[in-house]
Amino acid sequence: MAKQFLLLNLIALSFSCVVLAFEPSPLQDFCVADPASPVKVNGLACKDPKSVTAEDFYFSGLHLAGNTSNTFGSKVTAVNVAQVPGLNTLGISLARVDYAPWGINPPHTHPRATEILTVLAGSLQVGFVTSNPENRLITKVLKKGDVFVFPIGLVHYQRNVGYGNAVAIAALSSQNPGVISIANAVFGSEPAIETDILAKAFQVDESVASLIQSKF
Ligand SMILES: *[C@@H]1O[C@H](CO)[C@@H](O)[C@H](O)[C@H]1NC(C)=O
Repeated sequence: MAKQFLLLNLIALSFSCVVLAFEPSPLQDFCVADPASPVKVNGLACKDPKSVTAEDFYFSGLHLAGNTSNTFGSKVTAVNVAQVPGLNTLGISLARVDYAPWGINPPHTHPRATEILTVLAGSLQVGFVTSNPENRLITKVLKKGDVFVFPIGLVHYQRNVGYGNAVAIAALSSQNPGVISIANAVFGSEPAIETDILAKAFQVDESVASLIQSKF
C-alpha cells in the first residue's frame, strides 16, 4: 500500500514538473500583448479584447530573403511575440533563416523552446550537442523538404553546405523562445567576464581569450 502510494506520488510529481517546465495553457481565447501596459507578468499583459484586430495576429515579410552579408553569412528573421502581439501566451513562434553559400548560424540555444526546422532550399548540415557528461554531437545533412528537431535548451547550429543560397523555416515552442549565442554570451558579455576566467575555462593563454573577446 505504502509502495503504491509512493508510486502514485512520483507519477503525480512527474506530471506537475512537466506542466511547470513549459508555458501555462491560456485561460482565455487570446491575450494580445499590450506593449504600453506597465503591468509586469510572466509574459506580457493583455490588451482589451474589444480593441483586438486581425493586425494583432498578422505578419507579412517571410517571403523576403534576409541580408546575409555579415561575418556568419546567415540571417534570422524572427516572427515571435515581438512582431505578432497575438502570439502572447500561445507558446509558439516562427523564424525564417537565410544562409549564404557556406554560411553558418553559429552555435546557440533557445532557453525556452524546442525548435523544428525544415529546409525550403539548399542543403544544411545541422547538429546539436547533448548535455554533460556525454556532450555527444548529433548531426545530419538535410536537403530540401527535410525536417530536423533541436530539443529545448541544447546548443545547436546549422551550416549551408551548398554553393547556392539556402533557406529554412523554423517553428519554436514558445512565443518568446530567446536566443543565447554561445560566443556572444561568453566572449561578448557587457561588462566582460574577466579574461583570466575565460582563459582557465577554455584552457588557453590569456592573450588568446582576450583576442576572442575583442571580436565580440
Ligand atoms: C546588406 O548588409 C550589408 C552590410 O550591412 C550592407 O552593406 C548592404 O547594403 C545590405 N544589402 C541590402 C540589399 O540591404
